[in-house]
Amino acid sequence: MDKICCVILAAGVGKRMGGELPKALTQTREKALIDHVLFGLAPLKPSKTVIVVGHRRELLEEHLRNSPSAHGHSIEYVLQEQQLGTGDAVRAALPALASFQGTVILTYADHPLFTPETLKHLLEFHSFKRATLSMLSFQAPPPNDYGRIIRAGTPAQVVRITEARDCSPEELLISEVNSGFYAVDSSFLKPAVEGLSNKNSQGEYYLTDIVEKAAKEGQTVVAFPLSEAEEAAGVNSPADLVRVNEVLARREILKLAESGVIFDDPHTCYLDATVTIAAGARIGPNVQLRGMTSIGRSVLIEGSSLIIDATIAANVVIKFGSRLEQCSVGDGSSVGPFANLRAGTVLAQEVRIGNFVETKNVTLEAGAKASHLSYLGDCSVGEGANIGAGTITCNYDGYNKARSIIGKNAFIGSNSCLVAPVTVGEGALVAAGSVITRDVPKDALGLGRAKQENKEGWAKLRREQREDKKGK
Ligand code: UD1
Ligand code: MG
Repeated sequence: MDKICCVILAAGVGKRMGGELPKALTQTREKALIDHVLFGLAPLKPSKTVIVVGHRRELLEEHLRNSPSAHGHSIEYVLQEQQLGTGDAVRAALPALASFQGTVILTYADHPLFTPETLKHLLEFHSFKRATLSMLSFQAPPPNDYGRIIRAGTPAQVVRITEARDCSPEELLISEVNSGFYAVDSSFLKPAVEGLSNKNSQGEYYLTDIVEKAAKEGQTVVAFPLSEAEEAAGVNSPADLVRVNEVLARREILKLAESGVIFDDPHTCYLDATVTIAAGARIGPNVQLRGMTSIGRSVLIEGSSLIIDATIAANVVIKFGSRLEQCSVGDGSSVGPFANLRAGTVLAQEVRIGNFVETKNVTLEAGAKASHLSYLGDCSVGEGANIGAGTITCNYDGYNKARSIIGKNAFIGSNSCLVAPVTVGEGALVAAGSVITRDVPKDALGLGRAKQENKEGWAKLRREQREDKKGK
């Protein structure tokens, strides 16, 4: 196959995107549009990639200096002074192609969804047909603003592309449209682009006019129809961006599903592109996984959970309605339902956090349990310790935070307050309802509540007095 050189048109402002940035820097849910395009082109191994820049070029160049998408490309920037149309943009690229002989792939920076496989097919098709100009077309119902592919003769040959604004009413009915990806022989491209005119409704130099020129010269021009029309989607407006993000999200979920992750209801799940999920995990409905979250093998997330920057090891169960942020959950642990694990929570293996438990900046060692209605803040809980229902670590006195330390196999009775700083020793027991303000030694009983008093017959006497009153 011929040598390949790529040209990416990225000089546009993107007025309809509403910002001041170059349109190519518009962010999808994953990365900037230009990154998508560069990643998509890299497998073609172009000998050079020419990026046509314009409006605020320094921002685009700065972005690509730091982006992994630029790896594998030998990039040359060329400036299009004024945005006079896609044809003018390619004209600006011609000096950078002066010594190049081969196939030029022309693309627009606002098309993030194409796959390298599709472009490889385009190149194979181009070479098989010995074409001068090949392009990717697709069926667009309704075709909106896309340029229409006009064919004539039998068998129907491509004769030109007409931009929607320049179409007759009949031409507007054509549903085969131009995707904006072309493979063009370099020796044809250069004179063709230099000869473009701007006599059209927009007063622009249309790149698409080279199609008519090639056809008129009797060169072979072919349009290769895309099987997946969504690959051709361009981003011209915020509404287009919504559609593109939907496709990206679906592709991510499909990729994970193909690798062995089970989604009960993928339409209700939101995953950032940075999230990793191991095979065998099961994700219930209405789950959001954000940031640098990683989910281990055979994890079950029951549903309606928000997990941000968390590391979840294998075999964990996250029960319904839990929120986890900046924390790590060890192998075989279970969390929720309705748990709130806040920043700095570290759970070792087989830890159990039950319903309505909030944790912040805590470590629970292997096998520790806090099963119901607790607040654990700034504390460490030793191996096998049991935190009874309603336990509160009082870690804040209104000015400063202090730590509680709960030893291995300690047992904290229900509804206790541990007023930090305080240590409950290994194997110690705190009686239910205690307010613990002093350290409890190893293996001791800490009892910090008012002593109970029973008054014999008191309740009966009271009842009788009341009944008496009612009778009168
Ligand atoms: C273009 C095609 C249309 C095709 C559609 C596919 C032309 C004339 N029309 O229309 O047939 O169906 O894409 O999405 O080519 N750009 C520059 N400099 C310019 C103008 C544009 O660099 O002077 C860049 C833009 O930043 C953008 C790309 O070229 O990345 C395409 O420009 P845009 O204005 O979006 O063209 P469309 O109207 O979408
Ligand atoms: Mg466009």
